[in-house]
Amino acid sequence: MLSTKIEKALNAQIAMEGYASMNYLSMASWCDQEGMEGCARFLYRQSEEEREHMMRLVHYVNEADGKALIPAIKKPQMTYKSVQALFNAVYKSEQKVTAAINEIVALCYTEKDHATLNFMQWYVEEQREEEAMVRGILDRIKLIGGGPQSLYYVDKEVDKINKQLAAAEAAEPEA
Ligand code: FEO
Repeated sequence: MLSTKIEKALNAQIAMEGYASMNYLSMASWCDQEGMEGCARFLYRQSEEEREHMMRLVHYVNEADGKALIPAIKKPQMTYKSVQALFNAVYKSEQKVTAAINEIVALCYTEKDHATLNFMQWYVEEQREEEAMVRGILDRIKLIGGGPQSLYYVDKEVDKINKQLAAAEAAEPEA
């Protein structure tokens, strides 16, 4: 049984993850239109991941006898000034999500909800990984430069990450 406060916080997180999924989908689509296939592939994958994050929460809330609320779709930003601006926006979004996750974890302690605290540990680790990954991309963009001639190399670098992620996924044992 979830407390009202925890249920409300988890539903706010469902909305946040759902929005992140649509936001990354919009970013992926923009990269596709701009001919940055590696970045597009990366963001399509991130969009799927955010949907999975949302779904985990939906199932958890319903299984805990709460009511998962499916959020309305807010229109995300459609265009970006540069690929650097785009990944800065991804990083900001991830930092916002991390702060929200930390708030839920803190609430779990005050509400003495050990089951939700346990459930949220997966998100804590996931956020650490996602922030580090996006920081890595921003560092590479800084090294290569954000100008139009650098886009080809930025795209290749992001595609290397796609290959690493695909290899890590293939190596995972079947669930
Ligand atoms: Fe599910 Fe990247 O936050």
